Amino acid sequence: MSLFFTSLSIPLLLPFLSLFLLLFSFFIQWKFGRAPKVVNPGPTSHPLLGCLIAFYKNRRRLLHWYTDMLSVSPSKTIIVSRLGARRTIVTANPQNVEYMLKTNFTNFPKGKPFTEILGDFLGNGIFNADGDLWYAQRKSVTHLFTTRSLRDYVDNVLKEDVEKKLLPLLESAAEEVEGKPLDLQDVLRRLAFDLVCKFSLGYDPCCLEYHSLDTPHPVLEAFDVASDMCARRGAAPLSAMWRVKRFFDVGSERRLREAVSRIHLFINEVVGEKKRKLAMSCSDTGSIDQSTESDDLLSKMLSDGKEEEVVRDIMISFIMAGRDTTSAAMTWLFYLLSCHRDVENEVVRELRLVENEENLSKYESLKELRWLKACICESMRLFPPVAWDSKHATTDDFLPDGTRVQAGDRVTYFPYGMGRMEGLWGQDQLEFKPERWISKLEEGRIKALKNVDPYKFPVFQAGPRVCLGREMAFIQMKYVVAAILKRFRIRPVTPGHPVFVPLLTAHMAGGFKNSSFLDHGLGTGVGYGIGPVRLEFFRVGTTGHIDQGVPVPVEVKPSAIEIICQ
Ligand code: HEM
Repeated sequence: MSLFFTSLSIPLLLPFLSLFLLLFSFFIQWKFGRAPKVVNPGPTSHPLLGCLIAFYKNRRRLLHWYTDMLSVSPSKTIIVSRLGARRTIVTANPQNVEYMLKTNFTNFPKGKPFTEILGDFLGNGIFNADGDLWYAQRKSVTHLFTTRSLRDYVDNVLKEDVEKKLLPLLESAAEEVEGKPLDLQDVLRRLAFDLVCKFSLGYDPCCLEYHSLDTPHPVLEAFDVASDMCARRGAAPLSAMWRVKRFFDVGSERRLREAVSRIHLFINEVVGEKKRKLAMSCSDTGSIDQSTESDDLLSKMLSDGKEEEVVRDIMISFIMAGRDTTSAAMTWLFYLLSCHRDVENEVVRELRLVENEENLSKYESLKELRWLKACICESMRLFPPVAWDSKHATTDDFLPDGTRVQAGDRVTYFPYGMGRMEGLWGQDQLEFKPERWISKLEEGRIKALKNVDPYKFPVFQAGPRVCLGREMAFIQMKYVVAAILKRFRIRPVTPGHPVFVPLLTAHMAGGFKNSSFLDHGLGTGVGYGIGPVRLEFFRVGTTGHIDQGVPVPVEVKPSAIEIICQ
């Protein structure tokens, strides 16, 4: 038989073999040949260990490490493979970002590794859902962000909280000569929490009460603990570690469970109260009375007959999405403005100009604040509230730059690194220059800002899952920053850079307190946070302190504002 095979079949088989090889090479070409030769340098790797050693060495400066590697990667993509962790592709390439967030969106869901980590906290809420579950929620809440609802938000929610709570609080702080340092970031976080609760629940938790600033607000604290503990899950070298802890209900997992219980209790109480109110309005009129029905998300969901657990999870997602993001963005903006007085003066000049224009509603006048918007974008380019965000590939794929993706890979788009790529922003990429956002200037007035490609600047994500609160966030930030800058100036007292802490949402830390995520500020490219950044807080005089149309800081009673965290 074997003799027959060798003597007779070889000449016969040769054409088949050649055909097979030819087809096979076509197949390989088809399957893998779409990929141009791609160079993803990435970290130094060793057999078996992968880049574990380099990763460990850089674990406290991951943002920098990734940014440095990406800036020298020709494809602007790197692959991080290490023992015990999922293969991770980190990209700062806008074409790749567009591909994963839009073109082949369905192949890049958040994925189980993500939703499991946040599942105990966020349940199936929009922030933690994929596929049909996500789509149904997205569809049911998108209509809430209309121009009309944003106008109402400005005229009712924002106006009340800023005028009646925030400004009086800052006034009192400015009056204290030797007052206690005020943590500006904490004030802004409390404000953002009150605002998002009012918008989504129609309930004011009143975190922004001056006298309660010393004590953490129990619900806000529960949200902090829950998101920190989830971030810890994500950072654990082995996921089995948190699962074991959860099983035995110890340590961080116990804290997470307790925090989530507190959050559920809070939301359930608000939902119960809202249901009673809606039921009362129904029993009075026989149906839900449109005039008494509030505009908040919760009322709408209950009126639509959504189940209580579903409603609860959506509420938690919204609060998470809206609470820390705007406050982080504003904190960095105030810091950057305090270091760039010329830019700040320009903001104030624009405020005065717009204020003098008649017939503009508050909402419309906010739209006119284009220089301020440019400053906010520029600040978020350098310090994005969501520094990185990951998806998990469902099937094998190729990114447009040729990077091969394997099913199950984590694919991370990286707004922090993208904001610092010379190829995307030019040689002055590390400088705070809001003018880079201007597209049309006429007689000293900005007429239009550039439409920057959202995949080059994905701070709000982009594509079908783009942040739902984007417009609301800009409106909120403009309103708050304008209100503060009309009356106050914030100045750094000590030199040094604040520390950027990229947890679930990034925030500013005051120094070495959070030793696991040290980072430096802007510009130098080296160094770490060096102690709390102290800011002085000036009140701007209301009369007679105008210098060439720009108010100068004249109030002589500065009290230190310390931006601290944890
Ligand atoms: C500067 C402020 C903000 C930034 C930078 C920001 C950024 C983002 C990002 C990056 C995502 C995608 C997260 C992910 O899928 O993993 C997102 C989603 C989302 N954001 Fe925002 N956000 C901001 C403010 C807000 C506000 C004020 C709200 C509303 C109250 C909001 C509501 C949402 C919602 C509901 C989603 C989920 C969208 C979906 O999955 O379909 N955001 N945001």
